Amino acid sequence: DLDKIALKEIPKISDPDGRGNLSVVEKDFLPFTIKRVYYLYDVPSSSTRGGHAHKQLQQFLIALSGSFDVVLDNGKTRRTITLNRPDRGLLIPNGVWRELETFSSGAVCLSLVSEVYNEADYIRDYDEFKLFKGA
Ligand code: TYD
Repeated sequence: DLDKIALKEIPKISDPDGRGNLSVVEKDFLPFTIKRVYYLYDVPSSSTRGGHAHKQLQQFLIALSGSFDVVLDNGKTRRTITLNRPDRGLLIPNGVWRELETFSSGAVCLSLVSEVYNEADYIRDYDEFKLFKGA
């Protein structure tokens, strides 16, 4: 299932007069209704964020500025995807363990998510995640 996870191009409107770019995520662009938006910033390059999976929550990550790596893990294999463009995003389905690392200076990770915050939806223990996946 990890190979189905791919960067998705976000529609971009380049200004004809060179006034810069505008990217837009509208209601029907994602396979879920956005219930929450949050963002990570001022993350030290030595820090790892994430380190959990979600039972139900789906999310779409965008590197609004700078870059960082997303390590995806399905309980069997791992895959790393670098986010470094504000006009591409990564759709992470539920049931995928993720770690965000190697944040560049000034990196901002925008997260558009399908659920409001609910700690009960988190799996924060890797062994528990493997049990959840039946692995
Ligand atoms: P967490 O999801 O563990 O962050 P990350 O995976 O990026 O390292 O959240 C960190 C803390 O913030 C945790 O105590 C829960 C809290 N939190 C909220 O209260 N609301 C939110 O919407 C989010 C994403 C986190």
